[in-house]
Amino acid sequence: MKTRLLFLGPPGAGKGTQAARLCETNGMKHLSTGDLLRAEVAAGTALGQEAETVMNRGELVSDTLVLAIVENQMKSFSGGGWLLDGFPRTVPQAEALEPLLKDLNQPIQAVVLLELDDAVLIQRLLARGRADDNENVIRNRLEVYREKTAPLINFYRKKGLLLSVAADGSVEEITERISSTLI
Ligand code: AP5
Repeated sequence: MKTRLLFLGPPGAGKGTQAARLCETNGMKHLSTGDLLRAEVAAGTALGQEAETVMNRGELVSDTLVLAIVENQMKSFSGGGWLLDGFPRTVPQAEALEPLLKDLNQPIQAVVLLELDDAVLIQRLLARGRADDNENVIRNRLEVYREKTAPLINFYRKKGLLLSVAADGSVEEITERISSTLI
């Protein structure tokens, strides 16, 4: 099975949920930039304070700040596989990732795109109720996704890495779909 992965998809598509399950089952390292940023916010670090207002508006934290966090975390990548969840999120982030992975000699094996209708995404996020899960902010997150992150779909399709998975149905069904595309 492919074990050096990247998860792409709109907010609420289930990236975090599915990444946690896949990593648990396959002994891969789960790197979620959203979780890392929320940990900085909770710890009240300078970085967290800078990120908090941006996140609560549903905008993206600066590429520089995110890259600093990711670069630090990637030092611990071993041969056991890894899954990047919520990163890269812009073309400049994806371009910056390439030399980092080259240095580690660990190329991406697949990019999993989780696809779901807006109505279901919004419903899921409203039911969760995180600080950035109110209707206005969710709509902004969706717009930011379309404008800044969706271009990565073609970026990775051109590299022959993209695998699309329908993200509707039960958590278990989706895990099964993802696992079978990664064989
Ligand atoms: P991040 O934490 O990455 O949020 P997101 O991409 O908006 O994604 P979510 O966590 O909302 O959704 P998800 O797809 O992971 O779905 P989940 O599994 O949680 O980023 C948050 C913010 O941090 C960004 O807006 C930005 O400000 C900043 N940031 C992060 N990375 C950045 C980067 N690289 N560059 C710049 N800024 C960055 O599921 C959602 C809900 O649905 C959950 O309640 C879950 O239980 C439920 N659910 C999941 N699957 C199902 C199912 N099959 N059926 C029913 N419910 C389900």
